[in-house]
Amino acid sequence: MDKKYAVPPYKIKMVEPIHLIGRSEREERLAQAGYNQFALKSEDVFIDLLTDSGTGAMSHFQWGAMMIGDEAYAGSQSFYRLETAVKNITGYAYIMPAHQGRGAEQVVIPQLIKHPGMIFISNMHFDTTRAHVELAGGEAVDVACKECLDTLTYYPFKGNFDLEKLEKVIISRGKDNVAGIILTVTNNAVGGQPVSMENFRSVCEIAKKYQIKTIIDGARYAENSYFIKIREKGYENTSVREIAKEMFGYADIFLMSAKKDGLVNMGGIIAIKDDQDLFRKCQTYIVPMEGFPTYGGMAGRDMDALAVGLDEALDEAYLEYRIDEVRYLGDRLKAAGIPIQFPTGGHAVFVDCGKMCPHIPYDQFPAAAVGNELYIEGGIRSVEIGSMLMGRDPISGKNRQSDMELLRLTIPRRVYTFQHWDYVADSLINVFNRRQTIKGLKFTYESPVLRHFTSRFVPMP
Ligand code: F0G
Repeated sequence: MDKKYAVPPYKIKMVEPIHLIGRSEREERLAQAGYNQFALKSEDVFIDLLTDSGTGAMSHFQWGAMMIGDEAYAGSQSFYRLETAVKNITGYAYIMPAHQGRGAEQVVIPQLIKHPGMIFISNMHFDTTRAHVELAGGEAVDVACKECLDTLTYYPFKGNFDLEKLEKVIISRGKDNVAGIILTVTNNAVGGQPVSMENFRSVCEIAKKYQIKTIIDGARYAENSYFIKIREKGYENTSVREIAKEMFGYADIFLMSAKKDGLVNMGGIIAIKDDQDLFRKCQTYIVPMEGFPTYGGMAGRDMDALAVGLDEALDEAYLEYRIDEVRYLGDRLKAAGIPIQFPTGGHAVFVDCGKMCPHIPYDQFPAAAVGNELYIEGGIRSVEIGSMLMGRDPISGKNRQSDMELLRLTIPRRVYTFQHWDYVADSLINVFNRRQTIKGLKFTYESPVLRHFTSRFVPMP
């Protein structure tokens, strides 16, 4: 038999009931939420594809590990177990926990900015990373490769840096004004797309040439490593763990939202290769921000669950199924003619709503409009990654136009089954078939910052 998609290498021991409320109730709840899916109550959602962050299922080994959590304020045994796990994976010398990814960012990023106006360069800054760069007085510059904008054409590593642009920015801004280069793996905003080892290595070589520090924003580093194994020449027979080790070997700092490839519901990691001076600065700074350096905002039991989860996320049978699950949903949508970011990445299927609904202008938020239709159709919650998220230009006050209007169907880890993906695909195909009737959105309340979370809308008449 042809093994088209992998079979899950686990079975289900505990279940959580989910419930589909009626269509008229869904219409009512969405209107009450001001047509903003962040304002829905989760009990009104049947299948929740808002995020893969903190929404995964833990294994019985992780739940077991929680029972031996050591809640000591300082020097917790749970910390030392986590430290050992992170050291084994990264080879880095200095490890601190943080309460989640943005906690790690708020501790480390300000230490790297030596004077106002310094920049960070990334393939693509995640929103909170960008926010911490800006809060610390820096500027965030993105240099993603151009292939990532062409959703319909296959390219194996759409998460890559544009190396030429990277070097141009370093030269034009001056190397002493570059606080660091952030390698976001996988590149979330363009579709959970991987960075190739070749590109990763080249970025780090360029950084070394100009004596700039490299920071891995590695929320999904295990998925990225798996893509290198299956898509990059020369890595077919290398283990995912060794691939990850090679990546860590090139960079200087690892910041992780452990809510993704840590397979836990809350947690973060700071790991520094060998810069003791930087570690000491972070150690001082983490105390008032996150907590004492051996807990950094995490309970002892949660550090134990994470120590186990980090290893489970590198299991290749798990990763094969994980990536196949995303690919399966993408294949079903693509077969129906729905434009998606292709190939699918690691944690989500991104629907190209700019292409699906060209009749909706960018400032009426086509992806959010399609997402709302999908909720009404099937009780499925998703998230807009487009012009709504981009906000307004602070100087002109005009809506910024995103390069792409994407709807992210984000896949929680070890949570749903292929039947759920069939249901999601069938629902979205129904929406696709009536796409011409979908109307854009207009604000009834627009929040001044991070507007996608709290603004309210009505559909255009
Ligand atoms: N970096 C990346 C690449 C992320 O995707 C996220 C979170 C963070 C940093 C911040 O980590 O949430 O633990 O503070 N991404 C989530 C998402 C929220 O839905 O994509 P955090």
